[in-house]
Amino acid sequence: PVPMDSPLPTAALEALRAALEPGGWLDRPEDLEAYLVDFRHLYRGRTPLVARPDTVERVAAVLRTCHEHRVPVVPHGGNTSYCGGATPREDGREVVLSLARLNRIRAVDPQGYSITADAGCTLQAVQEAALAANRLFPLSLGAEGTAQIGGNLSTNAGGTAVLRYGMMRDLVLGLEVVLPDGRVLDQLRVLRKDNTGYDVKQLFVGSEGTLGVITGASLKLFPLPADYATALVALGGIGDAVALLGRVRDAFGDAVVAFEFLPRIAHELAVRHVPGTVQPFDHPHPAFALVELAVPARIPEFAERFQEFLGEELESRRVRDVVLANSGAQRDALWHWREHVPEAQKKEGASIKHDVSLPVARLPDFVARAERRLAELAPGARLVAYGHVGDGNLHFNLSPAEGDLDASAFLAQAPRVNRAVHDLVAEFGGSFSAEHGIGRLKVGELARYEDPVALELMRAVKRTVDPLGLMNPGKVLADGEAAGATPDPAAASGAPE
Ligand code: MLT
Ligand code: ZN
Repeated sequence: PVPMDSPLPTAALEALRAALEPGGWLDRPEDLEAYLVDFRHLYRGRTPLVARPDTVERVAAVLRTCHEHRVPVVPHGGNTSYCGGATPREDGREVVLSLARLNRIRAVDPQGYSITADAGCTLQAVQEAALAANRLFPLSLGAEGTAQIGGNLSTNAGGTAVLRYGMMRDLVLGLEVVLPDGRVLDQLRVLRKDNTGYDVKQLFVGSEGTLGVITGASLKLFPLPADYATALVALGGIGDAVALLGRVRDAFGDAVVAFEFLPRIAHELAVRHVPGTVQPFDHPHPAFALVELAVPARIPEFAERFQEFLGEELESRRVRDVVLANSGAQRDALWHWREHVPEAQKKEGASIKHDVSLPVARLPDFVARAERRLAELAPGARLVAYGHVGDGNLHFNLSPAEGDLDASAFLAQAPRVNRAVHDLVAEFGGSFSAEHGIGRLKVGELARYEDPVALELMRAVKRTVDPLGLMNPGKVLADGEAAGATPDPAAASGAPE
C-alpha cells in the first residue's frame, strides 16, 4: 500500500514498484527506520520507499523512473557516513536507493592486480576476496565490516593505510555508474594506463552520490606483505610524532604503511569504554604513535632492523618507550584500541568533531594555536585529537569536561568552535574535511572555504550531469545552488559537527 502521508505521487511509487518487482523495495515503517537516521544520529529524515535493486539494470530502471517522475534519490550504502551523506531529508519527498543487494565480487585478477566488484560489497568482502587470491586490497577503516565499496568510492574514503596506498581515488581503475536519467557509464576497465581524454570516472569519486550512482568498480590490488612489524611508541606529544614520522620514513621508505597518533586521553577513554583495550605501558605517557611497516616477502630482516631502529630511538631519548607487537594477536590488540577510539569518545558523551588536514610539518604549531583558542572558547572541554598524522590528518575532536553531562550546553558551543578551528585550518593552508567528505553537515563550510572558481566548476558539473537536481539534493552543494540560487551556509548545516 502507498503510505498515507507520502508526499510523493502514487503514480511515481507505483512505477518504482513495477521497475523493482516484489522483494526489491521496502515501504513498511518498521523496515524503513534503519534508512532514516545517519550513523551519528545528527539527522532523522523520512521516505515513502527504499528501493533495493539487485541488478545494474534495475538500478538504471529506478533512476529512469525517478527522472521521469522528478523524484529525488538518496543513494545509500553501509550508512557509516560521518556527515549525513546517505540520509534523506525531512520532507519525505526523496526515495532511498540501497545498493545492499548488489553485492557480488565479479572478478579477481591476481596477475593483473585488480578486482572488480559490485558497489554493495562491503569493504571487508573486497579485502577478503583479494586475500583469497594472495593479494592485498589496502583500504582499511574501522567501519570496514559495514561500509560498502560504493560508499567508499563516492566519499573518497581514507582510513589508516593512506600513507602508503592513497585514498580511494588512488585505488580506482574503472567504474560503472548509472546517471540520473538512467544511462549507464560503462568504464569498468582494469587498465593501468589509459590516457583517453578527461578522466570522467573520477568525477563520481568524492561527489557523494550527487552526480550518479556507482554500481560497480575495478580496483587496484597490491602484493600481499609477508608480515607486518607493528610498534606502539610513547611520545611527549604531536611534535615528537611528526619528528619520528620523518625519521621512520627516511629509514624505511615505502615500507611504512601506517602512522597513527593517539593522545593519552584516547587511551583513557578506550580503557573506560572499550572492553579488551590494551595496557601497553606500566605508566601513562602524554601521547603515542602506532607505527606499522609491511615486511616484503623476501626481506624478513626488515623486522629486525625496525627493532634496532626503535632501540636507537629509545637510547637517544627521542622517544619515551616502545612496545613491539610480537604476534598477530598483539598487533590486533593495538589496532583494536586505535579503531575503537571514535566509539570510546562517543560513549563518553557528546562530542564536537573536526576532520582536518594540514601540511604535516605544520601540525605541531596548529595544535598549539588551536589549543590556546579552545581554552578561551570552550573552557574545560577535553581535546581528543587523534588520527592519521602520517597523512597530516587529525580528528581534532572535543569532549565535555569530566562529569559535565549537559550535552546541549556543550553542543551549543559547536558553531563557534567549528568556525575558530576551521578558520585556523584555512590560515595554515589546510582542509576542513580531510577524509569524511561534505555530506549535509559541511555544505556551509564548503561554500565558505572552497576556492570560488572550484565552486563554480562544481556547480557547472552538477548542472551538466544532473540538470534536474535529483541526485542526493542538498549534499555537497546546497539545494538549488547549481541552478543559480545563492547558498545559505547557515541554513545548509543545521547540526553541530
Ligand atoms: C577514524 O579515524 O577513527 C575515523 O575517521 C573516525 C573519526 O573521526 O573518529
Ligand atoms: Zn579517520
